Amino acid sequence: MLSKSKWIGCFLFCTCVLTTSSAEVPNGFHLATKTLTDYLTIGVRPPDLDYALGQFPLPNVLVTKKSVLDSSQKCHLCTLLTDVLIMNRRLGFSDVQLASEASYLCNAMKMANERVCDGMIKNNVDIFTYIIDNNEDMSGSRICRLILRENECDSTDNYEWTIEVPAGKTVDKDKTKTNTASTTTFNILHISDIHYDPRYTAGKLNRCGEPTCCQDDNPDGTDDSTRCGYWSDYIGADLPFHTMQETLKQTTTHEFDYVYYTGDFVSHRVWSTSVENNTRDITAVTEQFRNYYNVPVYPVLGNHEPHPVNLWSSEGVEDGSLSTQWVFELVAEQWGGWLNEDAKQTILKGGYYTISPTKGFRVIVLNSNKESSSLQLTRWLINRNKDPYGQLTWLGSVLLQAEKAEEKVHVLMHIPSGDIECFDTWGREYRRIIRRFANTITGQFAGHTHRDELVVYYDDEEPSKAISMTWNGACVMSDHANPSYKVFQVDADTFDVVDYEEWTFNLTLANLDPTKDIEWYKLYSFKEAYGVESLQPGDVDKLLTRMTKDHSLIQKYYVYKFRNSDIALAEGCDETCEKNLLCDMVTTMYGDTEHCDILKQLYDENKQ
Ligand SMILES: *[C@@H]1O[C@H](CO)[C@@H](O)[C@H](O)[C@H]1NC(C)=O
Ligand SMILES: *[C@@H]1O[C@H](CO)[C@@H](O)[C@H](O)[C@H]1NC(C)=O
Ligand SMILES: [Zn+2]
Ligand SMILES: [Zn+2]
Repeated sequence: MLSKSKWIGCFLFCTCVLTTSSAEVPNGFHLATKTLTDYLTIGVRPPDLDYALGQFPLPNVLVTKKSVLDSSQKCHLCTLLTDVLIMNRRLGFSDVQLASEASYLCNAMKMANERVCDGMIKNNVDIFTYIIDNNEDMSGSRICRLILRENECDSTDNYEWTIEVPAGKTVDKDKTKTNTASTTTFNILHISDIHYDPRYTAGKLNRCGEPTCCQDDNPDGTDDSTRCGYWSDYIGADLPFHTMQETLKQTTTHEFDYVYYTGDFVSHRVWSTSVENNTRDITAVTEQFRNYYNVPVYPVLGNHEPHPVNLWSSEGVEDGSLSTQWVFELVAEQWGGWLNEDAKQTILKGGYYTISPTKGFRVIVLNSNKESSSLQLTRWLINRNKDPYGQLTWLGSVLLQAEKAEEKVHVLMHIPSGDIECFDTWGREYRRIIRRFANTITGQFAGHTHRDELVVYYDDEEPSKAISMTWNGACVMSDHANPSYKVFQVDADTFDVVDYEEWTFNLTLANLDPTKDIEWYKLYSFKEAYGVESLQPGDVDKLLTRMTKDHSLIQKYYVYKFRNSDIALAEGCDETCEKNLLCDMVTTMYGDTEHCDILKQLYDENKQ
């Protein structure tokens, strides 16, 4: 599902051509690309540029989901636009002139409204020029390869690197303990993606054409369907303070020993972020965690925490105004009460940490945002071919120590490894580690997609063998879905996930009468809903095979994915959607369709 998170990958504007494919060349495309090519040839704006770009508007690609372009068309357009900017910089444009040219292009092609175009450009221009100025051979195709994730964009540079994974091979799990019913368990609360919006204002227009709406400076809504609700809204809305409080309060009606928060504190007002405001919002959410929870909280950094959004600075960036070290310093201090000195040190290095909350159990928190495409532009383009921040090498060594100490490990991250925004090289190397340590890792927990999802990892030597699980979701904000949280039941000896419950409420109903108490309800518990024996990878893998026959199970998955939201129910899930859901459940590295193809084939065979 393309979420808002896709377009926030926008670096300047060239990223904003979204992913739905279409084979036909759209009207006006040739003229626009030809005229941009002329621009590159003659070095100044061709006289018919206005007209040509006007013939091929990309109407509000920052907000809408559908793209009229296929992947090679996207690469082509993105490359031309980026090359035009690079050329102008080389010809001597100042930062201001370059921003103005980018603004012209963004607005001429109607990629967003003016304040979003200009805000995004203002936030990103320094970094863009930094990259160009520090790379003599920088090209549009290299940048677009990173941003769009399409291999067609650059065949010469695959951003290849590899890490050393500790030798050895995963031992099979001890399956002697089958009677889970009699074991002791404890609970872990999972919440994610709060996207707190201090400017949230009920009654404003929810479809405002900007990445987030329902804010104090938006126009008023005109009727019930366009007025932002009191508790939030399915479309164009982040989370008001009182909905965050209500949710956290509700979670405390459960018992749990730890809280996992898998990232994204800050709202989607990405065109006007600032260090001050992001600091204020991260602080406000963290403070609420401290208010409501008297157990340790293990927070993860999301891609929305830095300013500008997504752009974590490279190790080598010395320019203070471009550095995102401030985020690390902020959270090392703010989260310090739940962590120890060692954890603070690795946070300061790269936003990741590990801690052992109790004997035999270890939590590892990754900063997976660094690896995702656009946000890592500076690092990828300047300091390539290496494991960013040494994080994966560190992960391998922590897991090796854990294995030796016979600890079991939960791995937490924001962007899951198979996501389009997780760079494939990173996803591949991460997966090598997961495969090596599948016996030590008893669960992965992620956020970012705003959806309730599961992902199965398979072995490399024995590809049909499922070896590890990521549990995604517990998203609090209401992006096309109802607000939710999850309570995981964990075996106190093996630290395996035994089951989980997902809780939610009907946002439409709650908004009808805000004076009434919200009616939270348990949407499902996994074992019961899917009739599985356990949440072990092998049993979930069998479930996926059953899904290829019994499509009512996929329909159930779809409903849960959006937490029973009216908007998702109205949209429904057709055959293509069902197959995509199956694929997403087995995609652990972007672009690797091996297991997806197997499931799709089973699906088709069963239909006949
Ligand atoms: C930061 O937040 C304040 C208060 O909402 C707002 O007035 C200001 O414009 C924000 N800063 C930026 C850069 O958007
Ligand atoms: C949510 O509440 C609204 C308003 O009462 C109702 O129309 C809708 O059917 C409910 N949705 C679900 C999934 O029960
Ligand atoms: Zn998010
Ligand atoms: Zn995110």
